Amino acid sequence: MKGSIKANFRIVNILMVVIVYITTIALYGKVIDTNNIFSIKNIILLLIFIFISFVLNSILIKMITFPLKRIEKNMRMVSNGKVNEPKHIEEYGKLKEIRDFVDAYMSMFEVIQKNSFDLTGQQSKTEIILEHMADGVVAFNVSHQVIHINKSALRLLALDSTYDTFEKITKRLKISLDFDKIMYLPNYKTIEAKITVGGNSLNIVFVPFFSDKLTPMGVIMMVRNITENVKLDNLRKEFVSNVSHELKTPLTSIKGYSETMMNGDLTYAEVQKFSKVINQEANRMDRLVADLLQLSRFDYKKVSWKKMMFSLDDLAQSVCDKMKIQADQKGHKLECIVSSKPPQVYADRDAIERVIINIVSNSIKYTPDGGVITVYVGYVNSNAYFKVVDNGIGIPAKDLDRIFERFYRVDKARSRKAGGTGLGLSIVKEMIEGNNGTIEIKSQVNKGTEVIVTLPTKIDTKK
Ligand SMILES: Nc1ncnc2c1ncn2[C@@H]1O[C@H](COP(=O)(O)OP(=O)(O)OP(=O)(O)O)[C@@H](O)[C@H]1O
Ligand SMILES: [Mg+2]
Repeated sequence: MKGSIKANFRIVNILMVVIVYITTIALYGKVIDTNNIFSIKNIILLLIFIFISFVLNSILIKMITFPLKRIEKNMRMVSNGKVNEPKHIEEYGKLKEIRDFVDAYMSMFEVIQKNSFDLTGQQSKTEIILEHMADGVVAFNVSHQVIHINKSALRLLALDSTYDTFEKITKRLKISLDFDKIMYLPNYKTIEAKITVGGNSLNIVFVPFFSDKLTPMGVIMMVRNITENVKLDNLRKEFVSNVSHELKTPLTSIKGYSETMMNGDLTYAEVQKFSKVINQEANRMDRLVADLLQLSRFDYKKVSWKKMMFSLDDLAQSVCDKMKIQADQKGHKLECIVSSKPPQVYADRDAIERVIINIVSNSIKYTPDGGVITVYVGYVNSNAYFKVVDNGIGIPAKDLDRIFERFYRVDKARSRKAGGTGLGLSIVKEMIEGNNGTIEIKSQVNKGTEVIVTLPTKIDTKK
């Protein structure tokens, strides 16, 4: 049977009427005029049959097609997105078969709705991740058009929405790559490029992406900011070169002088002089290696602080006393002034002693003979502080930011002559931070330098 339920019912109806009519004639010959089948009486009877049958038929058709029509309308509204879910659909199912159909439809709808929620959730999750990723992501379709670009990519690559194709973007970034080769050639699958945009070093990787059936769908471009890594790498290289250089200088002297001594024919005074130089250079190397080992212990967190409560003013005073001879040699006036007696500090006493020695010895080294170096001790808020002030050569503003870097020296030659390696302040900084203190340097060229260190006065629970 083809066509609509209604048409089919009509045909069945007509057949039924004819069958019923014939049966009635056969069975009830008395009621119906069998001599003349088309008599007025028979025709009226037939019309009554047809009428009753049509009424019954229409009721039946309505019972079946009306709910089906409503259900269909409802389904269309759902599929067109006009409503979110089928409404009052259960009400139409008066007949068992229709009810079963509605139930089946409803459970199918629930499954579809759940899958669609899952899909939407998944999509929005992916979108949120993409948008908040530190790495840039750009997706191109097979026609080389940008189909997605996240905020990080726009920022890192300094692009705007006018850059909407693979060619425009790669041209702007000065990367020469063939889109189709990335997408179709297996040995072209991953392409990396390193570029610099707006002071940032970027690592860019191009990868093709595929549909389930492994049909290429486009190319994804991943952008990673590797500025920090590049900086660290440069620092590492610089560090190795600095260490080699610092070791090479004293080694060259030791080698030269020892070879001269080995050749003999030297006066006692010369031997004395050369031995002294060798000893100084060896000491210098010893200090350098000790400082490097100390820094490496900080790096590997192998330093355990022996924190205790102690008097900062007493410690500062004793350091000044110890360094007086050194200061006197350069004609400096070194004194310790306790501005306000601070409460005891909680720190590693030996480490803080090294810190004060380091800072005061810098002042002694970098202040022309006959200078004034003062160590002030006091407290502000709940912190104790000490401040070393000198009237020496000072540090240019441009160098102040880098002064705590390993091997950083304003004037390499001057520092080396003074026996320095440029590691002192980097060790000081590690020590202060390890003891929960702070360090700050203020300086003016040819006027002097002020180094301020604060230390906690309360026992902390940190190690
Ligand atoms: N009080 C100061 N006055 C002027 N310059 C200073 C002063 N303190 C430090 N500097 C500058 O900072 C640089 C770094 O100091 P740091 O103590 O780290 O190294 P150093 O003194 O050269 O060597 P080291 O301390 O390892 O023997 C010094 O080379 C110097 O140029
Ligand atoms: Mg120093």
